[in-house]
Amino acid sequence: MDKHSYSIALIPGDGIGNEVTAAAFEVAAKAAKDAGATLVSTEYDWGTDYYFNHGAMMPANAIETLRGHDAILLGAVGHPNVPDNVTLNGLLLPIRRRFDQFANVRPAILFRGVSSPLKGLHAGDIDMLVVRENTEGEYAQIGGFVHETHPQEVAIQTAVFTRHGVERIIRFAFELAKRRNKKNLVTSITKSNAQGFSMVLWDRVFESVAAEFPEINTESLLVDAAAMNFVRRPQTFDVVVASNLFGDILSDISAIVTGSIGLAASANIDPTRRFPSMFEPVHGSAPDIAGKGIANPLAAIVSAAMMLDHLGLHTAAQKMDAAIEGVLAEEKVRTPDLGGTSSTSEVAAAVLARV
Ligand code: NAD
Ligand code: IPM
Ligand code: MN
Repeated sequence: MDKHSYSIALIPGDGIGNEVTAAAFEVAAKAAKDAGATLVSTEYDWGTDYYFNHGAMMPANAIETLRGHDAILLGAVGHPNVPDNVTLNGLLLPIRRRFDQFANVRPAILFRGVSSPLKGLHAGDIDMLVVRENTEGEYAQIGGFVHETHPQEVAIQTAVFTRHGVERIIRFAFELAKRRNKKNLVTSITKSNAQGFSMVLWDRVFESVAAEFPEINTESLLVDAAAMNFVRRPQTFDVVVASNLFGDILSDISAIVTGSIGLAASANIDPTRRFPSMFEPVHGSAPDIAGKGIANPLAAIVSAAMMLDHLGLHTAAQKMDAAIEGVLAEEKVRTPDLGGTSSTSEVAAAVLARV
């Protein structure tokens, strides 16, 4: 029998995370309800305020608590008064790692009614996915300080690339390109001209996985050239697969060429479904606009639509996507990042009304 009720952990977190997460959940809950499913939310007040009160970003049993949910919807983490490595390594990054959410999928679509900062591009011209390895690579958190605080201090930070980790993310990218059936292209990003071990392993694995997918075309780019080509010819990309750090950087470029980081969504997926997956906007807590009520909620709302899709509620997800596209195409209700004057709640209400 199909499942009808889904338990969602809401972690609004910091800054504008608090302004966009509830709205995203509300839209998703309505779309799900119309499709005969119920989303039940449990909100967790974890984040930097929690840290100020408890000395930790989340409680010691947080992972066990989250494990019982079907999915996690997260806002953003980061506070101007606390070092980012403390906040992010205390909340967001451990969830990605502990739940083995190894595929971070970040779509970039140029929607109707939105203009790209690049000239000559029209709606639909950009339609790509950045698939970012999410559990190892440059984010492995292996290292330390020697001679801490002294002039001879040394910091070591080691990137870790396992064949298992590289192979599964590359295979995921090929399967996604096949399922999408759009340009049938997977672009691999490395820096194997300079990094002669990790990225050489990546290139070798890419070549061997590619051989399993003769129907998918391939392209290999060095990350510096890729950064340029994300600006020069974004319309040529389909699925792009990259390591943790390269995928992080490139997905901010793919976000801005489609108009605003306020539209960029992401899904941290454990494709094996052993653990809950986590859905969150690409953007951060945006301290410069936090509390003003002008953050674009669409990145969070698109992320919530990706959550419904992951939960198998495909019709509801499509309904959300159509509502978002409708609001953008109408070019009336939009936040300042898209050149409008509407508030976060006005945009959320406009989407809700169309669901
Ligand atoms: P940011 O994404 O928070 O902001 C970058 C710029 O984009 C800012 O000018 C901001 O106002 C704008 N912006 C971001 N989201 C927007 C939205 N929804 N609507 C309109 N404008 C938006 O990146 P940052 O300034 O580098 O980082 C701020 C904090 O967030 C830092 O502490 C950082 O570590 C953290 N961060 C967290 C995440 C996350 O939780 N996933 C992601 C990125 C950064
Ligand atoms: C993102 C963010 C995070 C990352 C930071 C906040 C640790 O930039 O989700 O893109 O680098 O993964
Ligand atoms: Mn980022």
